Amino acid sequence: MTNRQHLDVVELSKLTCDEFDERVRPAPEQVGFEAVMQKAMSRRDFFKGSAMLLGSGLFAQSAFASSQPAGEKSSVDLGFVPIEANTNDTVSLPKGYRWKPLVSWGDALWSGGEWFNPKTLTTAKSQGYAFGDNNDGMESFVHQGKQLLAINNEYINFASFYANRKDHLPAGMDDVLKAQKAVGVTVVEVAETKEGWQVVQDSPFNRKITAQTPIEITGPARGHKLMQTKADPRGIQSLGTWANCGSGKTPWGTYLTCEENFNTFYSCSDESMEISSELKRYGVGYKDRGYAWGQFDERFDVAKEPNEPNRSGYVVEIDPSNPNAKPKKRTALGRFKHENAEVTISKNGHVVIYLGDDERGEFLYRYVSNNVYRPGAGGDAMDDLMENGTLSVAKFHEDGSGQWLLLTPETTGMALAEICIHTRQAASKVGATTMDRPEWVAVNPHKAEAYCALTNNKHRGIKPNKGGDAQPVGGPNPREANQYGQIVRWIPENNDHGSESFHWNLFVMAGNPLKHRGLKAGSQNVHSGNLFNSPDGLSFDTQGRLWIQTDGKYSNTGDFEGMGNNQMLVADTQSGEIQRFMVGPKECEITGLTWSEDKKTMFVGIQHPGEKGTSNFPYGDIARSTVIAVWREDGKVLG
Ligand code: FEO
Ligand code: CA
Ligand code: CA
Repeated sequence: MTNRQHLDVVELSKLTCDEFDERVRPAPEQVGFEAVMQKAMSRRDFFKGSAMLLGSGLFAQSAFASSQPAGEKSSVDLGFVPIEANTNDTVSLPKGYRWKPLVSWGDALWSGGEWFNPKTLTTAKSQGYAFGDNNDGMESFVHQGKQLLAINNEYINFASFYANRKDHLPAGMDDVLKAQKAVGVTVVEVAETKEGWQVVQDSPFNRKITAQTPIEITGPARGHKLMQTKADPRGIQSLGTWANCGSGKTPWGTYLTCEENFNTFYSCSDESMEISSELKRYGVGYKDRGYAWGQFDERFDVAKEPNEPNRSGYVVEIDPSNPNAKPKKRTALGRFKHENAEVTISKNGHVVIYLGDDERGEFLYRYVSNNVYRPGAGGDAMDDLMENGTLSVAKFHEDGSGQWLLLTPETTGMALAEICIHTRQAASKVGATTMDRPEWVAVNPHKAEAYCALTNNKHRGIKPNKGGDAQPVGGPNPREANQYGQIVRWIPENNDHGSESFHWNLFVMAGNPLKHRGLKAGSQNVHSGNLFNSPDGLSFDTQGRLWIQTDGKYSNTGDFEGMGNNQMLVADTQSGEIQRFMVGPKECEITGLTWSEDKKTMFVGIQHPGEKGTSNFPYGDIARSTVIAVWREDGKVLG
């Protein structure tokens, strides 16, 4: 590698996943008079309409102050005094709340493992016994009276993971293997002791599912020629999972892990090879993000295995109660940069799963099983629910209505297996609404409505998406070059998540009223006491409060002044009120949220503290991604 090439790799490893995509596989430029006019028109129309919308309709069948008489108490008692934004290198909580680290990158899950050493930073062997890096989505399960957590390990925080290497990059095969064992999913038993919640080392339920674990490919894409590789000529079993972002939980007690920025792990050693337009749509290019997996493991070199990327970008189902159960890739749920998988049941018993594709101008999806869920039926029935169903994609209309457009061979002209592999292309064909990066979806447990965080989109109104679909300003994506993000809410027709249509409004538009007026100031429920940007994680608690986690700009200056580090807020979805509950340490993202069975402890994910090198959270030495436990001093429930 020349010096120049080495510098390029160092630079790539410092980018976030979406910055990496932007650099390696930029969206096509939108040029021409017509496109500019179209942009100007859609903007003007929105502004014309927005005064009316902000005052009454679209913006809030119930969300904003306008729908609630002044002085009326929120229907949900948020029960704490909100905290101020800050840039401290620790976790901040309201008075009366406490926190403690539960498990951090490198903590041994088995007593045979080495304890994390902040100087040597472990090896591939010790990483094989230890909690992975960059924890993200997680869910809680109770089995045989044991409290289990299934936790995603999304990618690696180069600044910490390879702090023992020149330029914080892998130096050889062992470093690559170490990363392959630091991503995927960790299942771990935890228990409350006198010292608080702790990992139960050597629990028979502890399990690591890594980039090397055999996974059954199920559903329509199983066996398709696009899924076949030299190592797996039948296209029925892939090795491993990585880029595990958001999560989901089925009513039958399994864990869903969602493969997001899978493309950043692939490279192509032959620069004369033309990368197919299908792979380009998913951001696969010549360079990886600094992982170097393709140099040591042929699967990740698309010059050698052009079909391998077709085998990632799925939702994987894992049974946390059975450490020997083989994980299953559910291709029926489509292939894209999956954020999370929010499962609910329609009025007549079908399994409904909402799925976001987190990329600028990509789409929001819904899966509906063909058959109905029958509690207590055998595993084969559950396999059927996850293998046989229909995907559809959201179309939002300006008048506040919307519909789910079916993705079938009839509507797309594509074979069913192809729809499941090239899902983005199928959605483009039916004219779905390009969105401002759909992150987590959350379904209200007490009311037929769902919420999706649209985190930000600097290309809105400026460039098409990677497939060339326009990104006009309007509908649920109302701001050009959207830097703050918003949360869209939809109410299904007949209060049934299985309905073909819905009504939508914006629950909140993040913004900064200290710096801007108009749309950039945000919606009425944003004020100097709750400033935030880039909503990402969303979860309802059992009381119906909506928790909002952020993955945004933490400069605390300029347009982001007053927002501090990334944070977690909680919303009353009736009144629209939003309050800041937690601020994370420096350069982290807050992501992943679940509760102990008694709801007296909340587990929250602190991902990549110090990603630019300036944190030493949580123990004062090297920064480590960590799941923390949060509880109330008075011992009451908090979820
Ligand atoms: Fe892994 Fe879209 O966040
Ligand atoms: Ca996320
Ligand atoms: Ca994000």
